[in-house]
Amino acid sequence: MTKYTVSDKPLLEHTTEGYMYLVPENFSFSKNFSEIAKAYFSELEAFMKSRDFTGKKGQVVSIPVIQNKKVKHIFFVGMGKKDDKQFTLESYRRAIASGVRAAESHTIESVAVEVPYNKADFGYDISFIAQQTITIAMMAAYQFDEFITDKSAKARPLKELVYVVAKKDVKAAQEGFEKGQIIGEAVNRTRYWVDLPANKLAPIDIAKKAKELAKKHGLKITVFDEEQIEKMGMGGIKAVGQGSAHDAQLVVMEYNCKKKNAPTLALVGKGITFDSGGLNIKPTGYMETMKEDMSGAAAVINTLVAISEFKPDVNVVGIAPLAENMVSGNANHPGDIITFYNGKTAVVGNTDAEGRLILADALAYADKHYKPTAIVDVATLTGACSHAVGPFFSGLLSQDENLVEKLQAAAVTSGDSLWRLPLIDAYKVMVKNSLADLCNDGKTKYYAGATNGACFLSHFVGETPWAHIDIAPAAFDVPDTPYYRPNTGTGAGTRLLIDFVMNWKS
Ligand code: BES
Ligand code: ZN
Ligand code: ZN
Repeated sequence: MTKYTVSDKPLLEHTTEGYMYLVPENFSFSKNFSEIAKAYFSELEAFMKSRDFTGKKGQVVSIPVIQNKKVKHIFFVGMGKKDDKQFTLESYRRAIASGVRAAESHTIESVAVEVPYNKADFGYDISFIAQQTITIAMMAAYQFDEFITDKSAKARPLKELVYVVAKKDVKAAQEGFEKGQIIGEAVNRTRYWVDLPANKLAPIDIAKKAKELAKKHGLKITVFDEEQIEKMGMGGIKAVGQGSAHDAQLVVMEYNCKKKNAPTLALVGKGITFDSGGLNIKPTGYMETMKEDMSGAAAVINTLVAISEFKPDVNVVGIAPLAENMVSGNANHPGDIITFYNGKTAVVGNTDAEGRLILADALAYADKHYKPTAIVDVATLTGACSHAVGPFFSGLLSQDENLVEKLQAAAVTSGDSLWRLPLIDAYKVMVKNSLADLCNDGKTKYYAGATNGACFLSHFVGETPWAHIDIAPAAFDVPDTPYYRPNTGTGAGTRLLIDFVMNWKS
């Protein structure tokens, strides 16, 4: 377990193995570091120069020093220029993560960090910066190593972080830290579920985990099994799950606030524990990472967990349709016609466009039973979205400007980035069909694959304001980002949804 604390004790007085300074570009050496140089390393300025350290984004230099007969490391991490747009919140997140990784690469397990905090630089208060610091440090330290038996092959991520602030800021930073830890835990739990392969995590395993968490956090939960799903008329989830040896499940989790007549937000997440493509089977090179196809469901469930601790004045329902898309004698066929929970029908044009089939039932269920103020779904829905925006963004598709504005704001503050893609009525003919109401693979002459997915889903939300977030680009193996690791989940959607719910105003 990692320990995170806030302190107003001077940085170099901590007993941690490492000390970390976040340094803006073009910093003044004499002002900031001459004392350190005097005490520990007289050639510090020359050393920084020899390493071209100017405080540029992503730069890290470290020096070993002797303090009270112990070897300590001092890290200087570049944050970029203060006076241009580079000095953004995201540069800050990356600087923190780079520092945490630098410590890890030196097998240093505890660090104290000092951030030259000035509200004008960030435009955010200290509590929020503290929250970001801890969430990102936790994300940077996450690793999926439980199946590596050779201990020496495992990374040794940070175990302790002390955030050093001015005395007047301790309380606010402490509050931010507590929030940040709740978010970090939710994000890393999402990532862990994503990283568990399909033989370790079937629909029923996610349902079990959701039940355990609901019990622990006082959330209401209902889980429907495959038989109940079929009986309720959820032909989409049934069709997708029927080829698998593992039963499909539908998880419905509720956070109910104390405030009377509070609005309800519905969050819906795609939960395909493995997407083989079904009979329209995926070729080699496209199937290997398809354990990630439950990222949306994991984000939704773990958002509910975080929300249960924050207790905002808004009701939230989280719905996760869970199934495995497999090939078998019982699998659904291309050309099958299915009926969804709201009575609409569709031809299964392509068994690999299964996400929209399970989401259709879940969205219709959310709309009918909760009459929510807004619905947001998150899903690893299309490869097309990755081609359009990937990998540093998820696609945002909505015709509701109010929701778009709120989600885009949440994306910026949370760091869970969005890029808007087109969704207009003219595209909706894409999903029409002559044999049934709809077809799940659109007419290719319109190209826009992510839009196509959204058009299909639009038939299941009634008149409720709704936004679709295609996290296919950003959910797994995002490169060049110091708070992610190669070949692992990113938790996409989790930070976004938590921020979106916490800042909801009707
Ligand atoms: N799960 C995939 C989308 C995906 C691809 C997610 C790559 C993450 C990374 C989805 O079910 C799928 O296969 N979509 C098809 C839709 C098509 C058949 C209309 C796709 O994108 O090719
Ligand atoms: Zn698919
Ligand atoms: Zn899929």
